[in-house]
Amino acid sequence: MTKTIYITTPIYYVNAEPHLGHAYSTVVADVLTRFYRLLGYETYFVTGTDEHGDKVVQAAKAACETPKEYTDRISSLFQNTWPELDISNDYFIRTTDEKHKNLLQYILQKIYDAGDIYFGEYGGHYCFGCERFYNEKELIDGKCPDHKVAPQFLKEENYFFKMSKYQDWLIEHIQSHPGFIRPERYRNEVLAFLRDPLEDLCISRPKSRLEWGITLPFDNNYVTYVWFDALFNYLTAVGYPDSALYYKFWPSVQHLIAKDILKPHGIYWPTMLKASGIETYQHLNVHGYWNIDESKMSKSLGNIVKPLTLKDKYGVDAFRYFLLREMVFGLDANFSESALINRLNSDLANDLGNLVSRSLTMAIKYFNGVVQKPEEALEIDKKLQEDALKAVQEVTAQMQELAFNKALIAIWGFISSINKYIDETSPWSLSKKEDQRKRLGTVLYNIIEALRIITVLIFPFMPNTAKKIWVALGIKEDLCAQRLKNINEWGSIKEGTMVSKIVPIFPRVKQ
Ligand code: MSP
Repeated sequence: MTKTIYITTPIYYVNAEPHLGHAYSTVVADVLTRFYRLLGYETYFVTGTDEHGDKVVQAAKAACETPKEYTDRISSLFQNTWPELDISNDYFIRTTDEKHKNLLQYILQKIYDAGDIYFGEYGGHYCFGCERFYNEKELIDGKCPDHKVAPQFLKEENYFFKMSKYQDWLIEHIQSHPGFIRPERYRNEVLAFLRDPLEDLCISRPKSRLEWGITLPFDNNYVTYVWFDALFNYLTAVGYPDSALYYKFWPSVQHLIAKDILKPHGIYWPTMLKASGIETYQHLNVHGYWNIDESKMSKSLGNIVKPLTLKDKYGVDAFRYFLLREMVFGLDANFSESALINRLNSDLANDLGNLVSRSLTMAIKYFNGVVQKPEEALEIDKKLQEDALKAVQEVTAQMQELAFNKALIAIWGFISSINKYIDETSPWSLSKKEDQRKRLGTVLYNIIEALRIITVLIFPFMPNTAKKIWVALGIKEDLCAQRLKNINEWGSIKEGTMVSKIVPIFPRVKQ
């Protein structure tokens, strides 16, 4: 049976335009999805926008628009950005979609009927910026840790989800499923949080102070708290409760988020699923934060990095490569344009770009681009084949651990092996000896074979570049149909294949 994987990004708030942080999560999800396709999995990949709540109402007011006009406009900015970054999502979800509203009401009713939602009064410190209540312990010097302002004390009647009931179950689940929340540091963070008694979760807001939300099916005077609404997007997107997509993909769902939203995903979400009688997710994959020139990216600092500006300046693949190569998944990283330029010039223009152009140039110069029949392999040829196999194995292992930088290091290790092979076999010297024609043909065959493997390996990271190289290699089979388990079978390129010239794939950029 074909294996499946369902990958999600957070659904982004529409109170900000797409920036580097959003782009990173979405590119990572895309690379992962494409990689699993290479492994032969059937994949489903979803991203979207989170559109309810007070913040959106405020932002719409500031823009002199209705919430509907405003959310339509910003959501389409996200929808239009992703194709430009070669994001291959299968579905884009909006929490204002009718389908999502219906699902949420269905599920709220289900949890309410089961007795896990109750009505009660609560007094607490409410931060309007975060749109949530804080308890004393969570405040720093009496202020919201995020917005650095003192929250307002609010006493209100609201609906509550019995989250505390599922605390012991959640602790047990995390402990018996080591990769449930990963990397480990975030798993430990959630477990540390669970050492204190879990409070029930306030899941409603009175319409008297917030209208822009999904009405509770059992009380018309209230809308649903944004997080209780947003998290269910992951189910709406696969058509819960009765679609074939849901049955096929839900059991293999993996979420991808940054550390800022660990608590809702690590605590609220699994307990909400448990209360709904739905199997919880397979993995919560948590990455760190991009800082800009060593400081936090923020509107007030005026240092918001726009992904499309970078794409226009350096090309989509250089941008994607940089993001995946520079950040260790799980840790924070620093973004600077000069670091991006360095990577582009050294790894892409120098290592990969030069290898491709020198190899194709030789094939054209010595054999008019026609791939020759290889002779029996010598030791040095066998070593290249072994290096290819090792690279494929290493990339496969690292990708499954989300160690994207290490997977790229393994690919670049193989690029060095090919360069070394070229230097040691010295095709230019062989070309001068008439009796070495066959050997020269064999050497070039091996170089082209190695390039074929490189092309498939970089495909998830840099789909555009891979397609260009694939065309130049003259391979007739579809690049998208390649599978990792057989790409290292040496000898796939057929003799007589015609390779062609390629314009420099990564022109150097001046610092
Ligand atoms: N709407 C909620 C998520 C609901 S999911 C059911 C939300 N939206 S957000 O627009 O604030 O997006 C947060 C996410 O954007 C982070 O978890 C991360 O994926 C991405 N990033 C935002 N800023 C980031 C950085 N500076 N660095 C890396 N990723 C960051 O929270």
